[in-house]
Amino acid sequence: MILPLLLACAGDAADSAGDVPLPGDADYERDPALNVDAQSEAGATNSHNTGEACMHCHQAHSNGPGIFTAAGSAYNADGTPATTGSVQLWDGSADGGTMLLELPIDALGNFYTTTDLGLPQSPVQPLLLDAAGTEVDRMPWPTESASCNQCHTPVIRVAFP
Ligand code: HEC
Ligand code: HEC
Repeated sequence: MILPLLLACAGDAADSAGDVPLPGDADYERDPALNVDAQSEAGATNSHNTGEACMHCHQAHSNGPGIFTAAGSAYNADGTPATTGSVQLWDGSADGGTMLLELPIDALGNFYTTTDLGLPQSPVQPLLLDAAGTEVDRMPWPTESASCNQCHTPVIRVAFP
């Protein structure tokens, strides 16, 4: 008879925790002061969590400063975070479209912005450029989501050759 008691207690704990929305919950009340503009800078070290899905927290119902519209991480061929280069986002297609934004990859491999890119209504095509500004890779098709690390997990990172 001990097990049902424990389960009952666990149920109560979950109920009371549910009264206070946690970061990521739809009814979490985000501090408006967190809604700052942000964009990655070459050489900067103020980002973190390289490789994780940034928009898990940098979004309207969580507590990361800045509501990111595009963010992710880039890696070197040996699997270490890239420290130079950039990501371009093209409106529609890189062939014939308009370049919306070029995001520098920071010193921790991360790139991000809060600039309105028209997503998800207007998909963007991402390009990866090296430090010299030469394209080294591109996503083969446009994406409605620029939450890059949501898809680019360790199985398929955004990476330099
Ligand atoms: C688990 C939640 C979470 C994830 C995932 C996360 N962040 Fe954050 N981020 C925060 C919080 C909370 C802060 C503010 C406190 C701090 O600096 O830790 C922050 C701070 C930052 C800052 C510093 C802002 C400033 O004012 O200097 C940058 C830049 C940043 N995050 C970028 C990123 C990037 C890029 C990613 C993905 C690679 C990412 N974050 C993933 C929660 C997160
Ligand atoms: C909805 C999932 C998804 C999102 C979000 C996403 N990608 Fe991709 N990306 C893919 C898939 C799938 C491929 C193709 C993999 C392959 O070639 O088989 C790909 C390919 C790429 C490639 C070419 C390299 C390769 O392995 O083929 C680059 C570069 C790239 N993406 C960059 C980005 C960037 C930068 C972002 C964020 C702005 C992003 N992607 C967002 C799914 C996604």
